[in-house]
Amino acid sequence: MEVEAHNRAMLRLVQAVQELSLARTLERVMEIVRTVARELTGADGATFVLKDGDKCFYADEDAIEPLWKGMRFPLTACISGWAMLNRDNAVIPDIYQDPRIPADAYRPTFVKSLAMVPIRSSAPIGAIGNYWARHHHPDPQQVALLQALADTTSVAMENIQVYAELERRVEERTRDLEEANRSLESFSYTVSHDLRAPLRAIDGFSSMLEPGPYKDRIQQAGQRMSSLIENLLDLARYARAEVQRRQVDLSALAAQIAGRLNAAIHIEKEMKDECDRELLSVALENLLSNACKYSSKQPEPRIEFSRLSRDSQTVYFVRDNGAGFDMQRAEKLFTPFQRLHTQSEFPGTGVGLATVHKIITRHGGSIWAESAVGQGTTFYFTLSTPPVLAWNSPVLSTPAPAPATAGSE
Ligand SMILES: Nc1ncnc2c1ncn2[C@@H]1O[C@H](COP(=O)(O)OP(=O)(O)OP(=O)(O)O)[C@@H](O)[C@H]1O
Ligand SMILES: [Mg+2]
Repeated sequence: MEVEAHNRAMLRLVQAVQELSLARTLERVMEIVRTVARELTGADGATFVLKDGDKCFYADEDAIEPLWKGMRFPLTACISGWAMLNRDNAVIPDIYQDPRIPADAYRPTFVKSLAMVPIRSSAPIGAIGNYWARHHHPDPQQVALLQALADTTSVAMENIQVYAELERRVEERTRDLEEANRSLESFSYTVSHDLRAPLRAIDGFSSMLEPGPYKDRIQQAGQRMSSLIENLLDLARYARAEVQRRQVDLSALAAQIAGRLNAAIHIEKEMKDECDRELLSVALENLLSNACKYSSKQPEPRIEFSRLSRDSQTVYFVRDNGAGFDMQRAEKLFTPFQRLHTQSEFPGTGVGLATVHKIITRHGGSIWAESAVGQGTTFYFTLSTPPVLAWNSPVLSTPAPAPATAGSE
């Protein structure tokens, strides 16, 4: 082989290696290999043969005239089988002079000479064939090029299996998770729904009791149970709600909520984003009412809703100067019924932040908190999936541990 032709072939081989490394299906691998195999040696045809049990399967070809595409022959009765069984290449300048060639299968074809290399020499899974319409003696360099291509092909084929297996496992896990989530959600929905009826009965009958401390306590407990159920129902409802994104004026939304809560809240102007208005209204109402509740014992409560930019992503935050909490317990924040304060300190059901977390993660965003006892609290949230490496940013301290972030559902 001339030096120049050899260099060209080497370049083509490198290119093929790159293409093969990106291939994700067997079809794509075959497509690359059959064309490159021909180009590397200037052959008139190339075949891609797969080992299929004790048969050779001529899976694909690229040639001046049809060869054996789609056909199967016993491993022992064809030259690709010979290459696989002997884990060696076969170079045949004149096919009619070689006893390994079944001449009858070749007579209808243009083939006069050939070179065949096994794919994966250690335990062949196939073979690549090159064919010439004239008498040609493939030189060792050409055969070496073909063998290099075959070796890369075997790596590419193994990769495809690994990818397929990984994909299958990811799909399986996702399905299981989705299934578990769905049944959990419908379970909690049904439970809360079915709890309402007996609760109404308790409430109804207790109202017939003579007035007194027991009646009051039964009715208070009933009311508490009722708000727990309402909140659980909300949580289940928002977990299932579809996110309908459109342009929402978050500043205006927060101002409305502040009006309802009758609270003085400093709201950054003109905060607009693509999100689900109804869901965001629920989330903001929870965050802002928490900020009000947990700062209500301050002589001068200060509450702020604003935003900052981190790694070209908008991070919204609700900040208060209230009671705060111990960051060691932060991982409980978003779990239903987990509370960091007692009923006598600050009343509540402990479902609000679980609902907020659901809503934010449904948007593809994350939510986390920064706080210290007596030092106030800031809740940060985003409304979309972060750009790569966003979590690595030095601008903010890292998000709270696993349960606080979006990916940790
Ligand atoms: N701004 C805040 N400052 C201090 N602690 C907070 C703040 N927001 C939430 N927390 C803590 O997190 C816990 C969970 O909050 P969440 O909103 O889920 O429940 P809640 O406010 O107790 O009840 P509700 O379901 O009525 O909202 C609270 O009980 C409280 O201990
Ligand atoms: Mg709350």
